[in-house]
Amino acid sequence: MTTRTLYLFGTAAPPVLDIAQVIHDAQSRGWDVRLGLTPTAARWLGARLPEMERLTGAPVRSEYKLPGEPDVWPKADAILMAPATLNTINQWALGLTEKFVVGVVAEGIGKRIPLVTMPCVNAAYVQHPQFERSIETLRSAGITVLYGEGGFVPNEPGEKKPFPWTSALAAVEAAAGPA
Ligand SMILES: Cc1cc2nc3c(=O)[nH]c(=O)nc-3n(C[C@H](O)[C@H](O)[C@H](O)COP(=O)(O)O)c2cc1C
Repeated sequence: MTTRTLYLFGTAAPPVLDIAQVIHDAQSRGWDVRLGLTPTAARWLGARLPEMERLTGAPVRSEYKLPGEPDVWPKADAILMAPATLNTINQWALGLTEKFVVGVVAEGIGKRIPLVTMPCVNAAYVQHPQFERSIETLRSAGITVLYGEGGFVPNEPGEKKPFPWTSALAAVEAAAGPA
């Protein structure tokens, strides 16, 4: 069996602090994982980044490479953006690609890479008028957005609920198809 590469992209919402366990779970499902983070999420993980590099056996990336530098990761067979903040969901939908991970998933639409995202947003954030528009834009571009019934259901501000990582990994497998 050939191992497939999953880009696991995390943004600055609390479930990103559990990403080491998600790397383990994805690996045990047969994925070769590469971890990408927004700069803020990378700051949150801080001293734990070397542990993530040991786990994945590859550099963790949160910045674009310089022109002329080689790609350090193999091509992605699927990308999971989770947890995805309001900020990142909106940037992705609007094509604002200042951040490395958003640039990759923005291009991923045109490259037909299977793309899955699970937002992590509270009940106040989702009332921002851009949020629903962004969800609709991403879904209409063919992205699996795990939001609402069967996906992430918004929590009240400050309320802590388990993040449904297992559903996210199952959706990646459904989007990527059989190995
Ligand atoms: C403790 C803490 C928890 C946060 N939780 C969330 C969250 O669940 N969802 C969200 O959209 N933003 C949350 N934020 C705000 C984001 O971290 C902030 O908008 C940040 O700029 C997002 O950057 P990124 O999308 O580039 O990772 C939180 C901020 C802090 C300090």
